[in-house]
Amino acid sequence: MQKRSLALRAGGFKVVFVPTMGFLHDGHRELLRVGRERLGDKGALVLSIFVNPAQFGPKEDYGSYPRDLGRDLKIAEEAGVDVVFTPKAGEVYPSGYKTYVEVMGLGDNLCGPLRPGHFKGVATVVLKLFNIVGPHAAIFGAKDYQQLQIIKKMTLDLNLGIDIVGVETVREPDGLAMSSRNAYLSPGERKQALCVPSALESARLAFASGIRESSVLIEKMKKNIEKEPGAVVEYIKVCDKESLVDLERITKDALVAIAVRIGKARLIDNCILS
Ligand code: PAJ
Repeated sequence: MQKRSLALRAGGFKVVFVPTMGFLHDGHRELLRVGRERLGDKGALVLSIFVNPAQFGPKEDYGSYPRDLGRDLKIAEEAGVDVVFTPKAGEVYPSGYKTYVEVMGLGDNLCGPLRPGHFKGVATVVLKLFNIVGPHAAIFGAKDYQQLQIIKKMTLDLNLGIDIVGVETVREPDGLAMSSRNAYLSPGERKQALCVPSALESARLAFASGIRESSVLIEKMKKNIEKEPGAVVEYIKVCDKESLVDLERITKDALVAIAVRIGKARLIDNCILS
């Protein structure tokens, strides 16, 4: 992959990269579409599919994470991908592997405390993939807002010189954010999962009506989630959209972020209130 990319760059190609863990859906397709748009007249679109063990906790779903390489390769072909990079875990982390990257601070709130080591695993694999793929630009989804912020900061702090492009969350027609993990939901749970987008909608409406106190917005969202007996709130937060620090009151653009467990699925979603 590294040789291929160096040759492409030397030949004047623009390399645009979409990293994923596979089991592709329309959210990933949208990243590939945005990526293709950025290629210009001489470019190569690279997709990686790698379920990264370093970002899963010992009790998390690394073993059961959905995988379907055959289907993913078809989607990649339809999406105009030029190179699919699918390394094995033992190639990315050979025995004796010792080096990790951590972006300080941005992992202290939201998903960070609930998933110790997760963002360290994400930053490490993304830096490795960047070094292997050598892209000019890389595309990420705003659905994983905290991840996007951490990757932007790592890219800036470590002078990677890669253009990090964020893409809006792609949703099912009923509003549920697309996710490979939605495959864990039973039909009943799938209906319950709508409490997540409707909680965000209640925050947007309350904000539009003039409410600025985070605690009031959070209470409204909690009520939406509590309507579904099977849904367990992990967190509902209103934060500064850059530093991800909790805000008591909204005085500038704010991130509203939510994590809920329904059955085996952990669903995250967010929106920006401006
Ligand atoms: P994965 O969950 O496969 O997501 C790959 C990319 O797709 C991420 O940038 C994610 O934010 C984006 N994405 C997922 N669902 C989306 C949706 N509904 N709308 C828009 N974009 C969406 O995120 C990862 O993999 C991994 O942590 C990775 C960055 C590949 C590192 O291992």
